[in-house]
Amino acid sequence: MSTIPRTPVPPGLDDPVPMTLPRLAEKKLLGEAIVMITAYDYPSARVAQAAGVDVVLVGDSAATTVLGYSSTVPVSVDEMVMLAAAVRRGLRTPLLVGDLPFGSYEASDEQAIATAQRLVKEAGCDVVKLERGGTSVRRAQAIVEAGIPVMGHIGLTPQTATALGGYRAQGRTAQRALTVVREALALQEAGCFSIVLEAIPAAVAAVVTERLSIPVIGIGAGPGTDGQVLVFHDLLGIYEGHTPRFVKRYADVREQMVAGVTQYADEVRHGAFPGPEHTYPINDEELRVFLEEVHAKDPGTSRPLS
Ligand code: KIV
Repeated sequence: MSTIPRTPVPPGLDDPVPMTLPRLAEKKLLGEAIVMITAYDYPSARVAQAAGVDVVLVGDSAATTVLGYSSTVPVSVDEMVMLAAAVRRGLRTPLLVGDLPFGSYEASDEQAIATAQRLVKEAGCDVVKLERGGTSVRRAQAIVEAGIPVMGHIGLTPQTATALGGYRAQGRTAQRALTVVREALALQEAGCFSIVLEAIPAAVAAVVTERLSIPVIGIGAGPGTDGQVLVFHDLLGIYEGHTPRFVKRYADVREQMVAGVTQYADEVRHGAFPGPEHTYPINDEELRVFLEEVHAKDPGTSRPLS
């Protein structure tokens, strides 16, 4: 039997109890804030796990943050599956949400179910997320009926930003705010276990949160939602592109990464790296024999050593 001592785990930091849908629903009832963050690979998943977040989303924001596309539109299901599988390997307790990318669920219920099944079967996602109200409500219902829990996403939906007139806040007139409420209720009715509200006035988001019995997670939706989500690269300052108004930077990791790599390059160029502490020694006698042999067999004739 192993006698290896175990380090006590601070409460909440590496909670051994996996997050479940009933626990999320309970958090809403108890008024406990739900913490959600995106992750796109094994190291970011390990960071999310160590920080004790409740929900991890492999967002299609991966398209811009890690794959270098100019929007979320081009990312493929294959790419999402590969990224989500890496995140799965790094997580133990948070609920893992996989985003259905643009063009992978809109055409039919069958297409939506097939894509959701790939994210669950091949990548190990617990649940999936899709964007928009409208026809996406039917797709959400079909996926739920196929046995896969669905998170909705309304307000600013980046996959269809062109149709929304660009990356801009939504629900800013009375009529548009009512549309947001209707879409949220329709997604709840379709069986979604939660929804994301993106870039919505805080006052509107608070009303939606109050009207819904399922947890509402906000991003750019103010403090009145049941939880918050931010993009990993935005909050840690890894991504050098534009960050929206609603992002708060908690670190400047990119600056540190550039400084580290710049110093490495400098040290290689000036012979300061590697130092003796980074190299492997060889026994003096073994080295003497080796040098003798190598010179005996190759007396400067460029004949290859056998
Ligand atoms: O793709 C993503 O990162 C998202 C979040 C912004 C909610 O959908």
